[in-house]
Amino acid sequence: EDTHTDTLRTPIVAVLGHVDHGKTSLLDEIRGSAVSEAEAGAITQHIGATDIPLDTISRMAGELVIPDDFDLPGLLFIDTPGHHSFSTLRARGGALADIAVLVVDVNDGFQPQTEEAIDILRRTGTPFVVAANKIDTTPGWNPQEGEPIQRSMEAQSERAMSMLNENLYEIIGQLSDAGFSADLYWRVQDFQKNIGVVPVSAITAEGVPDLLAVLMGLSQRFMKEEMAIDVNGPGEGTVLEVKDERGFGATVDTVVYDGVIENGDEIVVGGQEEPIVTEVRALLQPRPLAEIRTEKQFEKVASVGAAAGVKIAAPDLDDAMAGAPVRVVRDKPLDDAIAEVKAELAEIEVDTAEDGVVVKADTLGSLEAMANALREAEVPIMRAEVGDVAPRDIAITETANQEEHKALLAFNVDILPNAETELESADVKLFTNDVIYQLIEDYETYVEERQR
Ligand code: GTP
Ligand code: MG
Repeated sequence: EDTHTDTLRTPIVAVLGHVDHGKTSLLDEIRGSAVSEAEAGAITQHIGATDIPLDTISRMAGELVIPDDFDLPGLLFIDTPGHHSFSTLRARGGALADIAVLVVDVNDGFQPQTEEAIDILRRTGTPFVVAANKIDTTPGWNPQEGEPIQRSMEAQSERAMSMLNENLYEIIGQLSDAGFSADLYWRVQDFQKNIGVVPVSAITAEGVPDLLAVLMGLSQRFMKEEMAIDVNGPGEGTVLEVKDERGFGATVDTVVYDGVIENGDEIVVGGQEEPIVTEVRALLQPRPLAEIRTEKQFEKVASVGAAAGVKIAAPDLDDAMAGAPVRVVRDKPLDDAIAEVKAELAEIEVDTAEDGVVVKADTLGSLEAMANALREAEVPIMRAEVGDVAPRDIAITETANQEEHKALLAFNVDILPNAETELESADVKLFTNDVIYQLIEDYETYVEERQR
């Protein structure tokens, strides 16, 4: 009776937060419970993502998620390693993720990468909830495996509750300092106006039912229209990572957020110099339930529909960039597809000056974030590129006129060995940091010190 189900795609949920705050553990817990609660095979492991169907979510969340209340097919979770910028997750006109879970260690509160994630969520207008994780580490905690948070809280001593509450209100205060009105999720009436904070433990799974319920509610209420897609239309996606795969050469791990991609499709992918036009040789998925990071054995599939993560093998992908668009050509003219990719890349083109610093970043998204932050800091950029630091970058940096511009700001990239050698003799100052604003602060401090 429900005819939309086929045309409503799975919402894409990004899991973000500071290093070690528990993003992967939380996903592991959701995956693990999904496996034990549901028939094996119900959840599917994708490249860089995990798809949990509605039935399984409902079984895990108990009375908190009644399947009849929802017509979205489930949730597709994307893990973001802490050292990797969430800003890779961009898509046509904004954020790749429809919603996000910001994981904050309840003892640690906001940390630099939490702030960075918040900045990006604000800029992209992505709705999010906060998972206040590691509540089981509260002194005197009495764990209630897998229970909804209210039931778990009833089982705690007054002393444990008061410590937990102190930490939770600290986080609510930090959200407020960041410009977001927030409260414990059960006190939130309107999730569009207020950020819900869900206390959870990735180890004991307490609060996980609540987190799933809040995510389903958010997606259903605010994103239903955006989830309606043409399931048979030409696929659109974003490159998460470019990786060499034995037997396939350079491949792109991609999240498909619209339409369908089929084996043999002609595709256009954003490249370092020009858009890459190529043909899909294989679409690869991890074998069922296999852990993606250790998984070597892929399964070839004939097609992949949104939303899903997939590894695309095709010739000539060496120059593809993380964060770049992927477009299936199918029945539109090739030139149109190329123009679309160019237009998307143009959105992130950086204004460069005759004289300025050189920027290297791991993905288009982080390059864009760096460029924005440098513009705000009134630091001119002479050149900005995605990729590791190579000898050529050192040579270019050295051509800056002003001494303070002979600086190379590298975000989340490697310094190639021959570039290291070059650096020893070059009149170039290299800055590296995994947090964008710290990288820029380091540079500003250096400039100030020079001027003294
Ligand atoms: P990066 O991917 O490196 O950014 O880290 P992450 O956010 O994915 O953190 P991860 O899940 O790897 O967890 C970091 C450490 O915290 C691990 O040792 C986990 O076992 C531990 N941890 C995560 N969640 C919890 C929790 O809820 N309770 C307790 N006690 N430990 C946790
Ligand atoms: Mg992790």
